[in-house]
Amino acid sequence: MGWKQYLKQREADEERRKKERTNAERKATALQLQAAKFGAKATKAAAAQQMVRRAQKLLGSLEEVRAQDRVAKIKFPDPAPCGKTPLMASNLSKSYGSLEIFTAVDLAIDRGSKVVVIGLNGAGKTTLLKILAGVDQPDTGKLEPGHGLKIGYFAQEHETLDHQKSVLQNMMFAAPNLNETDARKVLGSFLFTGDDVDKPAGVLSGGEKTRLALAALVVSSANVLLLDEPTNNLDPASREEILKALASFQGAVVLVSHDVGAVEALNPERVLILPDGVEDLWNQSYADLIALS
Ligand SMILES: Nc1ncnc2c1ncn2[C@@H]1O[C@H](COP(=O)(O)OP(=O)(O)O)[C@@H](O)[C@H]1O
Ligand SMILES: [Mg+2]
Repeated sequence: MGWKQYLKQREADEERRKKERTNAERKATALQLQAAKFGAKATKAAAAQQMVRRAQKLLGSLEEVRAQDRVAKIKFPDPAPCGKTPLMASNLSKSYGSLEIFTAVDLAIDRGSKVVVIGLNGAGKTTLLKILAGVDQPDTGKLEPGHGLKIGYFAQEHETLDHQKSVLQNMMFAAPNLNETDARKVLGSFLFTGDDVDKPAGVLSGGEKTRLALAALVVSSANVLLLDEPTNNLDPASREEILKALASFQGAVVLVSHDVGAVEALNPERVLILPDGVEDLWNQSYADLIALS
């Protein structure tokens, strides 16, 4: 499903839900009015109580719909086409002064593959992702970008956002082909509405920055996502939505996360363990390891 279609469907969904809400509210009001009339007569007290309960149930289920409604469905569009192995790296090493972070790490990211990078705090996960994203240089080794590679990088400290620019400007920068109306709609599904989109990114809270950086990724049509702790600071509803969207993402994902739920939602095939750079097939014991670390 392309962007245009997706946004159209979203609008239709919202329209339908609005109608359902109005209907339910009308019914509940009618029930309550009738119950009030009945309640005055002793013979109809039981019927009145039943009506009140039905009205409460109707309104209760509405509340649930509202809570879900606040976070709209998020979906990654199909990634830009790319070769069989969009990203390779060989013999990567990095030191800071005399502190050796990792040495001779090899990596091949196949199209659509899901890889989790694990390691204790300070093992070099963020450093590796920065190198893969091209924002930091390795001391040895090199990146070999495959045909059509388009990277989407979610930085742990949100360095990818331009703090001087507004929320909307950040979005337009991430996807120059997107028009302003559509950019606003996507921002809406990440809970930025009205004047929010004119705020400079620098003043946003941690959770808001995370949502903006994720919104920018969603519209970027990247075919390799490098995600460094993407669920930190996220409210539970937004986290659920983004994990669902990730689970159906067609492109490749390299994920660093302490959030076991996020890792399991990705359903990875492989794991890269830092600082050794050993690769292994994913299995449950790695989930246990993440939960412990
Ligand atoms: N720019 C830097 N200068 C010096 N040391 C750094 C720099 N960036 C990271 N480090 C150090 O490198 C190590 C690995 O950091 P990092 O990649 O952030 O680890 P992780 O993401 O696995 O927790 C840490 O000990 C950290 O302090
Ligand atoms: Mg880190």
